[in-house]
Amino acid sequence: MAQSSSNSRRLTLFVSAVAAMLVLVIIGVVIIPRLRTRPSSATTTADTAICPTTNVTRLPQDSGNFKTGFIYQVMLDRFFNGDPTNDNPPGDQGLNDPTHQNWKLYWGGDLKGLTEKIPYIAGMGASAIWISPPVENVTKPLDFGDGNGPQAGYHGYWAQDDYQIDPHLGTWADFDTLVATAHQAGLKIMVDFAANHSNPSDLGQFGAIYKNGVQLAAYNNDPNNWFHHAPSITNFNDQYDLEYQSLEGLADFAQENPAVDAYLKGAIAQFMAHGVDGIRFDAVKHMPGPTGGWLRTVADSIEATGSHYLVGEWQTTDPTDLTYPASVRFANNSGISLLNFPIYNAIDDAYARGNLIGPVEINSVLQQEEQDFTWMNDQANFIDNHDVARFLTARNDKNALHAALAVVMTIPGIPIVYYGTEQYLHNDTQGGGDPYNRPMMTSFDTTTPAYKLLHCLGTLRDTNPALPYGNYTLLHVNRSQYVYQRQFGQSVVVVAVNSSDSAVTVPAEQSALPAGTYKDYLSGAFHGGTLTVGNGGAIASFSLPANAIAIWQYQAQTPASPLIGTIGTTLTHPGDTLVVDGQGFASGATLMIGQHAAAITANTAQSITATVPTMPGGDYQVTVCQASQCSPGYPLVVASAPQVPMTITVNGLPTLTPEEQVYMTGAVAELGGGSTAPTAAIGPMITSGQASNPSRFLLVSLPACQTLSFSFEIVHLGGAIDAEGTTHTLTTPCSGETTATYNWGVPK
Ligand code: NOJ
Repeated sequence: MAQSSSNSRRLTLFVSAVAAMLVLVIIGVVIIPRLRTRPSSATTTADTAICPTTNVTRLPQDSGNFKTGFIYQVMLDRFFNGDPTNDNPPGDQGLNDPTHQNWKLYWGGDLKGLTEKIPYIAGMGASAIWISPPVENVTKPLDFGDGNGPQAGYHGYWAQDDYQIDPHLGTWADFDTLVATAHQAGLKIMVDFAANHSNPSDLGQFGAIYKNGVQLAAYNNDPNNWFHHAPSITNFNDQYDLEYQSLEGLADFAQENPAVDAYLKGAIAQFMAHGVDGIRFDAVKHMPGPTGGWLRTVADSIEATGSHYLVGEWQTTDPTDLTYPASVRFANNSGISLLNFPIYNAIDDAYARGNLIGPVEINSVLQQEEQDFTWMNDQANFIDNHDVARFLTARNDKNALHAALAVVMTIPGIPIVYYGTEQYLHNDTQGGGDPYNRPMMTSFDTTTPAYKLLHCLGTLRDTNPALPYGNYTLLHVNRSQYVYQRQFGQSVVVVAVNSSDSAVTVPAEQSALPAGTYKDYLSGAFHGGTLTVGNGGAIASFSLPANAIAIWQYQAQTPASPLIGTIGTTLTHPGDTLVVDGQGFASGATLMIGQHAAAITANTAQSITATVPTMPGGDYQVTVCQASQCSPGYPLVVASAPQVPMTITVNGLPTLTPEEQVYMTGAVAELGGGSTAPTAAIGPMITSGQASNPSRFLLVSLPACQTLSFSFEIVHLGGAIDAEGTTHTLTTPCSGETTATYNWGVPK
């Protein structure tokens, strides 16, 4: 660091440094012991001592709060074989390959294997595990005639029975042991669930779907309309095609069918009853309804059972992608956050593919998303996963991998790390995509630099609220330098990454760090040095060595006024339990949702549990107040009542051009709260035919058991609106699902 040459400035810096040290000591001795500690059995301190590891105290860890720590993504079949007796379960018809030659068959990993490795995962600083779909997949090998030979649902995305555990992976008892062991080690479990489809429609089981071994439907004999019978999607920009055609030949569930709705919700409810903390929803772009539609009703039913983290896979490229606006609307309304594909692409471009602008791209995507997403810190970031080439396949450079990991662990959002990344696992066959991005885990070494880096940054996310809850400020970026700050209240983390092979000089910056001297949190293991901060947070120009990752952090004492860091759901309804985590919640605090007081049932300095009162649906700001000091507002969507799906059709529309869209608008929050603006009204309604088709339909998430008034409207390119001038009414079911059909301009 460049130093001031004046003696008095040195003295000031010295005094400030001592003051800062004192504050840190006070935090260490007085504040931290009040917080919860990670069970000591879960840590592997000896191997990972590049940052403080003993008696590390954690921010609140209630089930819906996935922001602290990070999520470790595991493909169960490829992780660890803890029970060789289930490799060839009864009924297995050649689905297992013990030689690991056929990459599309089962290789032996299972629930017991993952359970055995819980200490390894907890020791890495993870706070949650995302497991591949554990439900029973197709029981016959599928041969697509593509030269790949027989294939199995080893990955979990070809469900045959969503109510049973795949016998290659274990039993419900094994599942329960996994959940209990994980919880004991301070880890949450997130289950991957494919609600969009069952299994391939044109061979093998022909999409057949079972409940506890009893067949309910099949694609090739479907009298009760469990499936959409349509070709595979070719136009990935058409909403109808995305939702009602098949994804890669998989039998596409008709979620608008009440029997399908009940089947899928029942299977998810079973997982919740087995204690899981979150769901990763597969292929959310392909299920019906904008603003979440059917999935919003699923999220609402899950959150009614407690606080959980829900995240969906919506594949998109960047904010210019045609489906990006719909993805934003989904994340802001459905109760389900998104896997952040635009950030994945930007990190991949910057660090794995060597784009010309480096992390400048990451920063610009982040700044755009911060404007678009209501809950930026809830979206999930990753550097690779089971559907794309592993980072080291794209660029076999550990320094670059470490830089990407440091960034993904510290920018706004919940980090996800794909299994084996910490062991530098990769297989580059045919470009390393699916299935070669799913090798068997071969080592569990707790001394690799990547493991240590994750351990430290996971621990920091668990302890300094600036990372899980804080805002983001860019300090400096160019092609190889990326310096930014995260801040929550007075707690601050500054990150500096140099991804070039030579030392660079970072220009002077203004930070929120109190004046003082800060040691690199990674103890220089990644070439970071000590940072001196002057009065007012001034950081003088400093040198950053080649491939350096430096982390400087400050944890403030409990703030005088309350601050909300997270609410364990983004969608709720009256009667639901809300868990609000943050700082400075003294007993006697009040919790307001807009102007509505919520009854508090539990209150610690960092966490409040309350019940959502009877109140109208809408978008609200939550505040915690005490002694006339109130926190800034934290956004929350309150649904009017428990949600039910309903498919609405309108016939007899005037002739429309491709640019004209039909929306629904009504007084209730679920229909836009009286607004006709297309950003608030519900739509666009869709059609399987040409734009001139006089009919449109839509699956909408609505409050149960209510009679509602609404109208249709036509929105022109440029925003002009043709009001229908007619009011319709609909009565929603008290449970289950239904349909209703109307004619444009005809009262009913
Ligand atoms: C996305 C999953 O991540 C991918 O692995 C799967 O093949 C498809 N959805 C279909 O389920």
